[in-house]
Amino acid sequence: MTEITRDVVIVGAGAAGLTAANELRRAGLSVAVLEARDRVGGRLWTDDIDGATLEIGGQWVSPDQDALKETIAELGLETYSRYREGDSVYINKAGELTRFTGELFPVPPATEKTMVELIDKLDAMVALMDPDRPWEHPDAEALDRISFEAWLAAQTDDQEARDNIALFIAGAMLTKPAHAFSTLQALLMAASAGSFSHLVDADFILDERVVGGLQQVPLLLAERLGEDVYLGQPVRTLEWGADGGVTAIADGMTVRARFGILALAPVLYDRVSFVPPLPRRQHQLHQHISMGFVIKVHAVYETPFWRDSGLSGTAFSPYELSHEAYDNTNHGDARGTLVAFVSDQNADDVFALSAEERKERILESLSHYYGEQAKHPVVYYESDWGSEEWTRGAYAASFDLGGLHRYGADLRTPVGPLHFACSDIAGAGYQHVDGAIRMGRASAQHIIEAARA
Ligand code: FDA
Repeated sequence: MTEITRDVVIVGAGAAGLTAANELRRAGLSVAVLEARDRVGGRLWTDDIDGATLEIGGQWVSPDQDALKETIAELGLETYSRYREGDSVYINKAGELTRFTGELFPVPPATEKTMVELIDKLDAMVALMDPDRPWEHPDAEALDRISFEAWLAAQTDDQEARDNIALFIAGAMLTKPAHAFSTLQALLMAASAGSFSHLVDADFILDERVVGGLQQVPLLLAERLGEDVYLGQPVRTLEWGADGGVTAIADGMTVRARFGILALAPVLYDRVSFVPPLPRRQHQLHQHISMGFVIKVHAVYETPFWRDSGLSGTAFSPYELSHEAYDNTNHGDARGTLVAFVSDQNADDVFALSAEERKERILESLSHYYGEQAKHPVVYYESDWGSEEWTRGAYAASFDLGGLHRYGADLRTPVGPLHFACSDIAGAGYQHVDGAIRMGRASAQHIIEAARA
């Protein structure tokens, strides 16, 4: 068993952990990053599947994500725009397809009016929230008692308006049914992206991609750390004391350090044995956070055939198995790629089927948006993060009803020498790579200050 000593031990080599490690090294502190998997990047994973380069995890960058954009620029990576020329498509409850441009779905005028009113109302509520302190929203307690589904039902009887507004948060972001999270949690999702309107605007929220794949961010950050990143080292035990000091015991090595950063998804904290145990507050609060669940489906075709009929590839329907889909063709690729998402209960349902039946059902749904040709991809792949031992869901974690108001303020509070960093506990950039980088920076900054004190 190898034993080493460092100033800081970082558990997890995702965007958060690797950002923290680089910041700490820059400030002159020594680090060791222990990663359970045999690769870095965590939920960022660009891989070749049957000859197609696919973004199995996170991929998009939006204009307000300053921390991610700074990191991309600093690493010398190039970005390109998501393809968006032409018409988007929307399918209503009756299964009728309508082409449209702009952000607003082509719904009957009364439904459109209701949707606009709801978006305005949500924007106004979000404007009162500091995403880093959602529990301080003037109505935080009341909003955390009511599910987003129930809140929407209290606003309007227009079911299509409710279904569409729910889609922007439930299917597209938190990837949980709208009855399973609070309105406060929904507002945090919107506030973390600047406004509810931003979530409605696919051209904003899904703006750019990185040439060669977003996993290059963690790969290049890890390259700078060289031998201080240890792969295949799941941390099983963390010994910590009030007097300072952390000992991280992984499968093949032990690291003694002054500080530790837990840079892993909060649903995985209980995979680690803490000695002594974490305090009561953390024991309780960690039980109120759970992962959403979505299947990211990749379908590659000989050509981006939908463009020939003037379609952008952008497709939405709260009534389809795949509630949203986009043109995801790689930079400079002659082939065409569609990416589609199957969220929460729909994902559960199709995972009860055989792989063949599941593929058939999902491609059938895509054919409703793009026509018969969508049923015949040359490469087909489903990102199944629910089966990944070191993630357990997608995209990220959120609180149950009442949890955010009750526990949120302690989410990032250090425990002795232990600090927490992950996209799932971020305010601005919550559930996104931008939030992971912000959390990595913040935890490093706290440690740098404490080390100097
Ligand atoms: P992350 O989970 O990436 O890293 C934690 C690391 O800790 C992992 O490498 C894990 O293996 C390791 N670990 C866990 N337990 C351990 C232990 N006991 N010992 C050692 N190591 C341990 N975001 C975005 O900005 N744009 C997007 O388009 C998308 N899209 C998207 C699609 C899909 C399918 C997913 C799954 C996610 C996204 N996201 C996204 C979200 C984004 O990918 C995510 O928020 C960040 O990558 C999370 O980075 P973290 O470093 O916080 O955690």
